[in-house]
Parts: sequence; structure tokens; C-alpha cells
Amino acid sequence: MKDKRIVVTGGLGFIGSNLVEGLVEDNEVIIIDDLSSGKLENIEHLKMENLNLIKGNITELNLKKIFKDVDYVFHEAALISVPESVENPLIYNEINVKGTLQLLIAARDAGVKKVVFASSSAVYGDNKSLPISEDASLRPLSPYAVNKATGEMYCQVFTENYDLPTVSLRYFNVFGSRQDPNSAYAAVIPNFISAILKGEKPVIYGDGEQSRDFIPVKQVVKANIQACQSNETGVFNIALGKSTTINQLWDIIKEFMGTDVEPVYMEPRPGDVRHSLADVSRAKSIGFKPKSDFKEDLGETVEWFTSKFK
Ligand SMILES: NC(=O)c1ccc[n+]([C@@H]2O[C@H](COP(=O)([O-])OP(=O)(O)OC[C@H]3O[C@@H](n4cnc5c(N)ncnc54)[C@H](O)[C@@H]3O)[C@@H](O)[C@H]2O)c1
Repeated sequence: MKDKRIVVTGGLGFIGSNLVEGLVEDNEVIIIDDLSSGKLENIEHLKMENLNLIKGNITELNLKKIFKDVDYVFHEAALISVPESVENPLIYNEINVKGTLQLLIAARDAGVKKVVFASSSAVYGDNKSLPISEDASLRPLSPYAVNKATGEMYCQVFTENYDLPTVSLRYFNVFGSRQDPNSAYAAVIPNFISAILKGEKPVIYGDGEQSRDFIPVKQVVKANIQACQSNETGVFNIALGKSTTINQLWDIIKEFMGTDVEPVYMEPRPGDVRHSLADVSRAKSIGFKPKSDFKEDLGETVEWFTSKFK
């Protein structure tokens, strides 16, 4: 992608800042972010001439004005904690559903060429037909998952009713640089790495035999750009299509970091899905062929966190 004018909402966050990094060399990028979980340091290393930052809440800004002459919108901004969404469903609805709807209306009215929406494998809930394909029934188990399913449906409805091309990408478990290990809801990989760096014992919920389909953030960036450039619309799983148990993950990280610390096993968390694995065949149509040496990518992530910790 080259010489385009692009908006990335949530561009100061983990995935958003990696996406901005992948776009800013050859395009003009406008970030919209309210800094609720995003950080300015996530974009400090980037070429600033091509980059504009609009600080504010997507539900309060005049998005139509911002989207004037914008080619593409990548919508990453969201509240992302499942347990917090159970506590505060109304706030989650306000930002994740109403915010997405307002964004779609503004994109339609401003003549944006395509919107790429960050959805989540959470929409499948405990659906056990694995590997799971996009045609499987949705069983959201939390307000967060309902928000993402609703966001996808609004995207689809805007494509059908108003000719606004949209794509929803159902990310599975994303990992990589700039993922926040200090959040109360940190994902398992930054949690493990930061526990070792702090000399603490990492916690594994349940017996550790639950499995996930992890995907490096660099591949998610690639999928976003491919989805935007393709003529396809609709929903796509974005994952490697490989299953890794939490115990296996721990063994790899432990080896990389040269530690013999043993994890603490605690009660499984309510609502945690036992296994998650994507069927990634549909994403071929947007040009996405998951390619990763999981261990190598994990090693890079460990190095990144270790260098930050010093
Ligand atoms: N990390 C994962 O494994 C994963 C998996 C599935 C889906 N997703 C989705 O990917 C997207 C990015 O997630 P992430 O992990 O980078 O999270 P993140 O919290 O690092 O990034 C979200 C960004 O959105 C910003 N934001 C939140 N509310 C906002 C608002 N009202 N207005 C403007 N900005 C706002 C935050 O400040 C932050 O910079 C989210 O939509 C999330 O639901 C992430």
C-alpha cells in the first residue's frame, strides 16, 4: 500500500501501533486514540512527518470531518477486557458498539473506500467444532464478545445497504512487541515473560492443558493490509491455525529465558474456553497465508520485552 491517506483508530495501542508502523513509511497515517490504554511511547520510534495524532474519544470526535479525503480506516480502538465488560456492559456497549456504528456512519458519509474492523475469536465463545470456521454459529459469552459480533454485523449491513466495503478480522491470540504486561488483564505471553523478568512465579489457570491459536502481531498487520487491498468483504479468521497448550508455551518461554522457575497452578478462570483453534482457509481469498516459525517469533518477543525491562 502506497501514498494513501489512512486512519488507524487505537493506533497508540498494541496492535494499532504495530499496524501504524507497517503503514507509515509509505502512507500518510492519522491516529485517533484517547490514550485510555494506548501509550505515546508506542509510536516514538516512527517517522513523524507522515504521522498525525488526534487525541480523543471515537464517540465524541467529529469523525466525518476527520475522514475527509481518507482512503481507508482501520478500526482497532476498543475496550478490550472481557471481565471488565462483564462489570460494565453499558460502557463497553457505548465505546465498542456505538463507537463502531458512529465510525461506520462517518466513513459512509465521507466516502471512505474501505473499513477494516478488528473483531475477535471471542465471538465463537465455547463453540466446540474445531478447527472453527467463519460459518460456525456465534456463541458470545461476554458483553465484549457481543460487542464484537454486533460490530461485525453493522459492518456487513453497511456493506449491503450503503455500498461501504468492510472487512471484519477475527483475531485469535495475538502476541508481540508493545503488548502491555502491566495491564490487570495482560495476555498470557507478556504475563509469563514479565513474571520471569521480575523474578516472580507465573500463574497458570487450570491444568495448563487448555490450548490457544497464537499469532504474531506482524502477521496480523499483514492480514489487515491484505484485507484492505483485496476486493473481499465479510469476516475472516486471522490465526496461524496451530494449537499450543499453555504448558507447551510455558516450556518454550522457560527455555528461551533460561529459567527453572516453576509456575503456580490456580483454579481455572470462569468463562475461559478450553480449546481455541482456527480454520484459516477462508483468509486465503484476501491473500493471507499464515506463515510463522512460532518459536522464532516468540523468541523475538522475549528479546523485545527483555530489552525494555533493562
Ligand atoms: N490483543 C489480542 O489478542 C486481540 C484479540 C482479538 C481482538 N483484538 C482487538 O484488537 C483491537 C486492538 O487490541 P489491542 O490488543 O491492541 O488493545 P489495546 O488496548 O492495546 O489498544 C486499544 C487502543 O484503543 C484506544 N481506545 C480505547 N477506547 C478508545 C476510544 N473510546 N476512543 C479512542 N481510542 C480508544 C486505547 O487507548 C488503545 O490505544 C481491539 O479492537 C481488540 O478488541 C485484540
